[in-house]
Amino acid sequence: MDSNLFFSFTTTLLIIIFFHVSYFPLPSFSLRIYSEFIYPNFTTSNLQYVSNTGAFLTSQRTTFKAAIIHHEPSEEVADFYFSIIHVESNQIIWSANRDSPISNSDKFSLTSNGFSLVRENGQRIWSTPPFNSSVRALQLQESGNLVLIDNFNRTIWQSFDHPTDTIVVGQRLPVGTLLLSGLQNNVLTGNYSFMLIDHDAVLQWNSDTYWKISMDTSTFKDKNSPVAYLMLNGTGLYLCGYANVVVFQVILNYSTAFRVAQLNYDGRFTIKSFLNKQWTQEFVGPQKDCLIPNFCGAYGLCTEAVAGSNSGTCTCPSGFRSKTGTRSCLPPNASSLPPACGNGTRLSSSQMVSYEELSTGIDYFSNAFSTPILSGQDLLACANICSRNCSCLGYFYENSSGSCYPLNNQLGSFLTVDGQTDRKGYIKTIVSANNKNEKKGKNPPIVALVLIPTTAVSLLAILIVVGLFAWRKSRSKKTKEVKLGRPSSNNSVEIDTFSIPGLPVRFDYEELDKATNNFQNKIGSGGFGDVYKGTLSDKTTVAVKKITNSSNQGKKEFCTEIAIIGNIHHVNLVKLRGFCAQGRQRLLVYEYMSRGSLDRTLFGSGPVLEWQERFEIAMGTARGLAYLHSGCEQKIIHCDVKPENILLNDHFQVKISDFGLSKLLSPEQSSHFTTMRGTRGYLAPEWLTSSAISDKTDVYSFGMVLLEIVSGRKNCSTKTQTHSIEIDSGSGGDSSSSTVSIPLYFPLYALEMHEERRYKELADPKLEGRVRNEEVEMLVRVALCCVHEDPSLRPSMANVVSMMEGGIPLGTPRVEGLNFLRFYGRRFTEASNIEGSNVGNVFALFPQAMASSESTTTGSYGSLSYMSSQQVSGPR
Ligand SMILES: *[C@@H]1O[C@H](CO)[C@@H](O)[C@H](O)[C@H]1NC(C)=O
Ligand SMILES: *[C@@H]1O[C@H](CO)[C@@H](O)[C@H](O)[C@H]1NC(C)=O
Ligand SMILES: *[C@@H]1O[C@H](CO)[C@@H](O)[C@H](O)[C@H]1NC(C)=O
Ligand SMILES: *[C@@H]1O[C@H](CO)[C@@H](O)[C@H](O)[C@H]1NC(C)=O
Ligand SMILES: *[C@@H]1O[C@H](CO)[C@@H](O)[C@H](O)[C@H]1NC(C)=O
Repeated sequence: MDSNLFFSFTTTLLIIIFFHVSYFPLPSFSLRIYSEFIYPNFTTSNLQYVSNTGAFLTSQRTTFKAAIIHHEPSEEVADFYFSIIHVESNQIIWSANRDSPISNSDKFSLTSNGFSLVRENGQRIWSTPPFNSSVRALQLQESGNLVLIDNFNRTIWQSFDHPTDTIVVGQRLPVGTLLLSGLQNNVLTGNYSFMLIDHDAVLQWNSDTYWKISMDTSTFKDKNSPVAYLMLNGTGLYLCGYANVVVFQVILNYSTAFRVAQLNYDGRFTIKSFLNKQWTQEFVGPQKDCLIPNFCGAYGLCTEAVAGSNSGTCTCPSGFRSKTGTRSCLPPNASSLPPACGNGTRLSSSQMVSYEELSTGIDYFSNAFSTPILSGQDLLACANICSRNCSCLGYFYENSSGSCYPLNNQLGSFLTVDGQTDRKGYIKTIVSANNKNEKKGKNPPIVALVLIPTTAVSLLAILIVVGLFAWRKSRSKKTKEVKLGRPSSNNSVEIDTFSIPGLPVRFDYEELDKATNNFQNKIGSGGFGDVYKGTLSDKTTVAVKKITNSSNQGKKEFCTEIAIIGNIHHVNLVKLRGFCAQGRQRLLVYEYMSRGSLDRTLFGSGPVLEWQERFEIAMGTARGLAYLHSGCEQKIIHCDVKPENILLNDHFQVKISDFGLSKLLSPEQSSHFTTMRGTRGYLAPEWLTSSAISDKTDVYSFGMVLLEIVSGRKNCSTKTQTHSIEIDSGSGGDSSSSTVSIPLYFPLYALEMHEERRYKELADPKLEGRVRNEEVEMLVRVALCCVHEDPSLRPSMANVVSMMEGGIPLGTPRVEGLNFLRFYGRRFTEASNIEGSNVGNVFALFPQAMASSESTTTGSYGSLSYMSSQQVSGPR
């Protein structure tokens, strides 16, 4: 008896424990899925219903569900929306927090005041407005309408009154209410809108109309009375007036299937039905690609592929050229587009408005829908109106009526028309007075390129005079030249014969030879030569960089470097004290940085760099780059951001060096940067495609450096792990440990840890936990934001600084923009396994180097981010 009792007691206990253990990860009490109603006080989150993909409420017959969901294809933990979804088709018909995503642990909360979405820290993201009566229940109706009812069973709020981009059968869209398009994945509001107006329904892009329902051939007008609302039912789409009279109707096949009208992300208004597990499109407007405002991007030209067909092809208006990497076009002189309208938009006295004339047969989508602002006037009157208004980007002039149609605020695509219009387009451009002088020589010599924008004409004059003088002098000094070994040069200016005003001090070669004790004390080697420590006659210590490459290329960069660095002063940028250009010798004299470059401190065997120091270094680097990008008169892109170029002084103050690759960047130049070089491992993917190199290219490299600062290791290196291996030696187990090197592409590892929010593990193990966790998280997240494949998703350096200072909220890395890291990581691992222990040498550079051994790569990344090592180093 006793033992039996004990046995059943233990069994019960075991069962209880078993159930507890097996259910532990899921809070079992909140898994109930509510049908039709929920009542205050109710709180939940996606995490609590994660096994049911976030759905916690269904309509009575489960036609619709309410859920906190991801919008495909996002995989981010902070990208969730409270939405109503048609269960069978998975169509989202409404979202509450469309432009303010929440995380999977943030809360949905229903109280007697309404419902809201609340961050874990209590911050309210979205909520229903205040009501006079208190809420009794939230009801999800069979129609898909989400309704708040009060104690008298009155509806006090319904989602049908606040449509996003979709309406369903049973829903009314009143006059004045908008449907706003989403972006491609349906989250975040886009630029297109569908609006019901008094006598029609229109589609607009940035408040310019491009389509009306009345002009569609399947629309019928029944009555001549004003429209009050729009609705959809089993037989069609109706625009009804007061007393429910039908004003317009779009007749559809009778159907009881689930049917929606939706404004798509691409600017088309569609009606579709879900029948037999698939969608059938029943109506679409506009049908022609070329009627979509932005089909070919800004200033693009859309032409029907075949006359009369719906599909359009994109080109540029004649005289315009395509903007690399986009469908958009640019006028012949790219820098001449008018600046955006803003407070400080004032043309300087040297700038003039000019108009680029479009060829005949080109029209703009909105002209057919807008009334001209002037009639019976001449062309000049139109131009005058446009010139005076900064929001005017051009105009169309109709000769027969003397009308003008201004183009305002934002320009989309043009379309080709044949013979239906005598309107002619004029695109506003800005020309500056000194541009005229430059037009002749297409490739001005590099020195001129550098100097003209800064001190312009006066300096040029000095150059010419001095140059002439020098040339004369040089003719009479042939013997000396031979001694110095001056190469016959095709560069336009010889710097070694005179000094350029405003430039850093010019040294004699002999002087520097003496200062460096005959170049004995080498302290480093940079991209273009070795660096030596030296002491000048005034006892100051300097770093002298001796350029080894005396090719034409090296000389160009040399001149660039002097002119640029000499004029830039920032606490986080290395100061150029002087230079020497004598014969073939090219030397640069920098202030001396006692701690050398970051790579030695970070990856070397010296004392561990403490967390606080790392953070300061990251901060200083960010500030220096931000200054280069936006603090100088002209944007300067470094192009070779890497630890070797980040120098440190005694107090771990950062100074960025090596501007050898950077250039003064005009928009014109940015699209063809052909003579660039960078360093693998820090190269942004756009180096490998034809896309433009921009300041965002530096942002990418900075992100890569940031990861190395956090981890204290090279991004492409092997991770050493000690494994215990059981060796079966017959008589019992014998264990022995062995050290294994695992190839690890650190940026990918960082991405994976980010997805699991395990930032702490990314910090340098040598720090043994002496880190600030929130700062580790911050740096990793900033770094990942910086390495987004799409440059436009990367923050600017100025924003990076603000994020690190806490001035603006920390960005959220978008996993879909980082998936290329998985590809790089896989390539890295695979190649490492093949190459065995040589990995470190071969692939510490960049996974792209691997492409040289495999040229048949296909797939989405194959063409994008892949190239041979020969391509990486640029043209020779
Ligand atoms: C909900 O919570 C509020 C505040 O805690 C309370 O005043 C109210 O009575 C609760 N309502 C219900 C229906 O439990
Ligand atoms: C509201 O509706 C519920 C359910 O239909 C009913 O039980 C309740 O009596 C109604 N309340 C009022 C005030 O009509
Ligand atoms: C749809 O609404 C129109 C206009 O009110 C009406 O004439 C028609 O009968 C309705 N169709 C169905 C299937 O309810
Ligand atoms: C410029 O044009 C816009 C759009 O037509 C108009 O709203 C604005 O008032 C104009 N500004 C001036 C100063 O005329
Ligand atoms: C513009 O209109 C005027 C008068 O209507 C006409 O004389 C002139 O030839 C037209 N110009 C063009 C380019 O069509």
